[in-house]
Amino acid sequence: METQTCLQLSLCTTILCFLVQCPLQSEGLGVNWGVQASHPLSPSIVVQLLKSNGIPKVKLFDSNSSVLDALVNSGIEVMVGIPNDLLSGLTNPSKANTWVRNNIVPYMSSNGVNIKYVAVGNEPFLTSYNGSFLNLTYPALVNIQSALNAAGYGGKIKATVPMNADVIQGNGAPSLAVFRPDISSLMTEIAQFLNQNGAPYTINIYPFISLHDDPNFPIDYAFFDGSQHPVQDGTLVYQNVFDASFDSLVAALAAAGPYGNMKIIVGEIGWPTDGDINANVEYAKKFNQGFLNHVLSNLGTPRRPNQAVEFYLFSLIDEDMKSIQPGNFERHWGIFEYDGKSKYSLSLTGANGQVLVQASGVKYLTNEWCIYNPSSGDQSKLGDSITYACENSDCTSLGYGCSCNEYLDAAGNASYAFNQYFQRFNQGPGTCDFNGLGHVVTKDPSKGSCDFIIQIAEPAVISNQYSSGSGGGGGGGSGSGVVGGYRMLWGSSASLMLATLSMLLHLFCFILT
Ligand SMILES: *[C@@H]1O[C@H](CO)[C@@H](O)[C@H](O)[C@H]1NC(C)=O
Ligand SMILES: *[C@@H]1O[C@H](CO)[C@@H](O)[C@H](O)[C@H]1NC(C)=O
Ligand SMILES: *[C@@H]1O[C@H](CO)[C@@H](O)[C@H](O)[C@H]1NC(C)=O
Ligand SMILES: *[C@@H]1O[C@H](CO)[C@@H](O)[C@H](O)[C@H]1NC(C)=O
Repeated sequence: METQTCLQLSLCTTILCFLVQCPLQSEGLGVNWGVQASHPLSPSIVVQLLKSNGIPKVKLFDSNSSVLDALVNSGIEVMVGIPNDLLSGLTNPSKANTWVRNNIVPYMSSNGVNIKYVAVGNEPFLTSYNGSFLNLTYPALVNIQSALNAAGYGGKIKATVPMNADVIQGNGAPSLAVFRPDISSLMTEIAQFLNQNGAPYTINIYPFISLHDDPNFPIDYAFFDGSQHPVQDGTLVYQNVFDASFDSLVAALAAAGPYGNMKIIVGEIGWPTDGDINANVEYAKKFNQGFLNHVLSNLGTPRRPNQAVEFYLFSLIDEDMKSIQPGNFERHWGIFEYDGKSKYSLSLTGANGQVLVQASGVKYLTNEWCIYNPSSGDQSKLGDSITYACENSDCTSLGYGCSCNEYLDAAGNASYAFNQYFQRFNQGPGTCDFNGLGHVVTKDPSKGSCDFIIQIAEPAVISNQYSSGSGGGGGGGSGSGVVGGYRMLWGSSASLMLATLSMLLHLFCFILT
């Protein structure tokens, strides 16, 4: 009986949500959308990807205008970013005013972008920055919020600072955590400012990095299936490092002053699929699905039970131009591939929900690959050619434990490198030469999990059908043009109709159950 009722209810919700495009019980869900890619998907395709997956929030790393233009009228809630290298200028209040005037105000009309946060800097207190941003972040934060206030948006838009997890010093039990001693007074100042302003504290949490950095880290503690190594903290028990990290921040805030109840946002969380022995599809799926099920259950964490957590998955799409200084895995955090294909089945609404919908309307280069030809060219140049190809493209899938490692021999490695270069440079003339060692083939050389890609074609000039408002006819040819028309039909004035429809459906569902 009960199961049946549930089934009927969830069927009703599904029908309802299909009609009104609402996200299923995932208000806390957001994703990070970065564009450090050689061939970024066109922003309109990405916005459609967000919508078709019911993703209600997005976090950006800058204020890229083509990205913001594509988000116009989407209803998607946005955290706009300010890169660290702008912080220095923003310690000047008039420059902060100018930044807000140029990057926020133009999107604040009633048909604009639903901007809710501005991320001032990104992990500015990482120890690897050698303190470069220590003196800049707080003044920039204050100036940006003041500029937002002066522009009349202070009530709606809050400035925050996404922090790296290492701003906190753990001492075993989460309840003993404090801010890192070298920045303790700075962190307290920031917490006080955010708190007084009703802004959230934002922290990035990476169990993958815990595992990566510490070979003795108990692997089951990184996931959400219970651990052989739970951490006992007074009466509280921690079964996973996410809860422990989150509660360490709660404890550090409480230790710093009356900030123990501040709103906390998880700015980045996720697991990469390649580029490291622990970065693979199996672990990424296990982590991300486990995390989603855990937080969407609204059970909260031991210190904050029964509370919803607001979080942004890292990340939406792979970015092949990211720095690999932290590790080769950096280019493989996406839940989607570079071209918007899903990597594995993942339900963003928790267990047994709808799985990922992939991007549509993506255009590719010709079906041609560049591979190594062992019987031609100057074989003495092979090593140099591979090095050159890899230095100018992305070979992060070749290493030990990576997606290509067990599928390619030395010749296969060469082919992979050549193809990466060939695709990076759009299959252009001379990009498959390599001293005569390369040749173009039309049969896909992919093997097992080792994917020989075809790059996406330079984004076709797709006019922005959301902000232009007149795109109805013009965009008709492409998939996203149709989508634009659909949005316009349902977007603005149809809400009353939808409300009525939803009431009727509720009634229908009520009778049914
Ligand atoms: C903005 O984003 C687009 C699309 O993702 C990208 O092509 C472009 O290079 C970005 N612009 C800047 C200045 O980063
Ligand atoms: C930080 O210092 C180290 C060692 O002195 C240096 O190698 C590195 O380039 C510095 N990083 C930055 C961001 O200044
Ligand atoms: C930050 O400011 C303090 C005090 O003004 C100064 O002593 C320190 O050297 C500055 N640090 C950096 C990294 O600029
Ligand atoms: C292929 O390249 C990777 C990365 O450089 C290397 O670890 C691996 O040993 C190579 N495979 C062969 C068979 O040479």
